[in-house]
Amino acid sequence: MGAQWGDEGKGKVTDLLAEQADLVIRFQGGNNAGHTIVRDGEEYKFHLIPSGILYPGKACAIGNGVVIDPVVLLDEIEGMRRRRVDVSGLKISANAHLIMPYHVLLDSAGEARLGKLRIGTTRRGIGPCYADKAARLGIRVQDLLDEAILRKKIMAAMEPKRHMLRPHAKDPALDLHAMTEEYVTYGHRLEPHITDTALLCHETLEQGRTVVFEGAQGTMLDIDHGTYPFVTSSNPVAGSACVGAGVGPRAIDEVWGVAKAYVTRVGEGPFPTELADDVGRHMLERGHEYGTTTGRQRRCGWLDLVALRYAARINGLTGLAVTKLDVLAGIDPLQVCTRYRHGEGAVFDEFPYHQSILHSAEAVNEELPGFEDDISGCRTIADLPAAAREYLEFVSGFVGVPVKLVGVGPGRDQVIWADGEQPLRAVA
Ligand code: IMP
Repeated sequence: MGAQWGDEGKGKVTDLLAEQADLVIRFQGGNNAGHTIVRDGEEYKFHLIPSGILYPGKACAIGNGVVIDPVVLLDEIEGMRRRRVDVSGLKISANAHLIMPYHVLLDSAGEARLGKLRIGTTRRGIGPCYADKAARLGIRVQDLLDEAILRKKIMAAMEPKRHMLRPHAKDPALDLHAMTEEYVTYGHRLEPHITDTALLCHETLEQGRTVVFEGAQGTMLDIDHGTYPFVTSSNPVAGSACVGAGVGPRAIDEVWGVAKAYVTRVGEGPFPTELADDVGRHMLERGHEYGTTTGRQRRCGWLDLVALRYAARINGLTGLAVTKLDVLAGIDPLQVCTRYRHGEGAVFDEFPYHQSILHSAEAVNEELPGFEDDISGCRTIADLPAAAREYLEFVSGFVGVPVKLVGVGPGRDQVIWADGEQPLRAVA
C-alpha cells in the first residue's frame, strides 16, 4: 500500500516481492498510476500491468477494482511484446470497468469547470469512470465480447452526459458506431487475457501459494480516508484489496506500507509539511520528483508522522518499507512532523477529521541529526550511519510499525532488507 500521497516507490517494492510471489494482482486505480523499473540496464514504464510481468511467465492480474483504458493497456502489451517480454501470464478481470473516450473528455472538462477549486487530476478519465461504475452505467471488460450489448451500454452511458459532451458533439471519437466497432476490436485483442481473476486468486491461495496485492496511489488519496475532495476516486487502502481482487479479509497475512523518507504530493490539496525552500528543492532535485504519468513536478516536504501513523492505523500495517532514504543525505538537521498546530493554538496529535483544520494546519516538527555520507552502497542496517539508523528508529517507534525494507537508491539492488523484529541499532 502507498502510505502517503502516492509515488512512494511501490513499483520497486512490488517488483522485489514479486520475485517470490506466484501471483501479483492490482486491485484499484488505473493509468493514473505509473512506475519505472530498470532491469538489466533497460527501462520499463508501466501504468496498468503489474510489474511482476518482467519475471517470465509470472501470473500478473488486473483485478475487478481497476479501471482500464484499453488503448493504454494494449499499448503496454504491444510494447512488452516488441521487447520480447513474455506476456502470457497477464490476466484481466472480466468485471473490471473500462475508461471510455467520454470519460477522458469529462475529466478535463470537470477540472476546467472547477477552475481554482480544481483537484489537479491526471486527466486520464479515472473519476468519471468510477462515477459511471457507481451509477451503474459503466462498461466492463466482458461487454467488449458482445457487440450488441456493448452498443446498448455505450448509448445508455452517453445519454445523461449529452449536455456536458455538447462541445464535443462532432468529435469522431464519440460517434456511437465507430466507438463500438473500435472497442469490439480491443475486445478481440484482449480476449486471450480476460478471465475470472477472483477465482485465479482464490485457487492460487488454496494451493498454499503466495499472492502480492499491489496498491496504487496512496492512503491520503483514498476517497474515504484521504484529503477529500483532493483525492482519487478509488480506495487505495488495504481493505480495498479484498473488494478489488475478490478475496476475503482472512486471505491477507501481511500489509506493508510504502513510505518515502520524506513526503511528496502531486496535484492540489492540503500538505502541512510542504517546504518551499532549499530543503524542498534538494528533495525535488536529488529525488527526481517528477511524475511518471504526467511529468508534473511533485511538491516536497518533511516526513509527516501524524499522517503516517494514521495510514498505519487505517491500513493495519504490519511492516514499513521506507524508500529514498539516500535523498536525505546532506540535510542537517532533519525534521519530522509529530503534531499539527491550528491557528487558534489547538494542537492535534491525530489526523484531524475536519478539512478546514487540515487546510490551515501547521506542522510541529522535531529535529533529528542529519547524515552527510552517501548511503547508496549500504546493504545492511549496520552499514548505515548512526543518524540514519536513528531516523528509522524514530519513525518506526512513532508509527508503531517495524521497518522491513529500506531503499537507498534507484537500483534494484539498492535496498536493505531489515529484520523488522530486531532493533534498528547496528550490532557492532
Ligand atoms: P485522478 O486519480 O487522476 O482523478 O487524480 C486525483 C488526485 O490523485 C490528483 O491529485 C492526482 O495528482 C492524484 N494521483 C492520482 N494518481 C496518482 C499517483 O499514482 N501518484 C500520485 N498522485 C496521484
